Amino acid sequence: MKEDIEKVYYGKEELDAVVKRLGSQISEDYKGKNLLLVSILKGSVVFMADLMREITVPCEIDFMCVSSYGNSTENKTGAVKIVKDLDSNLQGKDVLLVEDILDSGRTLSYVCKVLKTRKPESIKICTLLDKPERRVVDLKADYVGAKVPDEFVVGYGLDYAEKYRNLPYIGVLKEEIYSEE
Ligand code: IMP
Ligand code: MG
Repeated sequence: MKEDIEKVYYGKEELDAVVKRLGSQISEDYKGKNLLLVSILKGSVVFMADLMREITVPCEIDFMCVSSYGNSTENKTGAVKIVKDLDSNLQGKDVLLVEDILDSGRTLSYVCKVLKTRKPESIKICTLLDKPERRVVDLKADYVGAKVPDEFVVGYGLDYAEKYRNLPYIGVLKEEIYSEE
């Protein structure tokens, strides 16, 4: 696995620091609210697991699985499908969507649109990584861990063709890996 990585962008310690900063910001902002963390599967599981332990206010968690990319590195069609929906009723909840990376923005823009119809008290976005250059829809995250340039990154939950999610750091995949398709 390691041999497929061109370079490491964020190591374990840097990720820890980023997650701690987000956790304390969120804990401050959600005092006295009804926080529901919604992890967008599967990419955000590692981030979610670390982030929730840095949050010091009461919260509930739920999971939603949407699919867009298949095995490719680009969401060419913009089509998004709900593969697994939430179990929670959103009424009165302050929903915080937890995402691994904001790229074109199509996935979260769709998810936000769907969830808003369920009348949550509020809905915000927390993304570990942001690729602002790639945005095709007008969407901004309320909490951003770190910005990354337009390169395909893997690790710490992020995959390429379902692999590399278990790397403890975030790195760039060698180009030959995904140009083999
Ligand atoms: P969007 O709808 O284009 O914003 O796509 C967001 C989703 O695409 C993320 O949740 C990731 O699953 C995937 N994605 C986008 N860029 C990358 C990347 O660099 N590495 C791994 N997955 C990515
Ligand atoms: Mg993915």
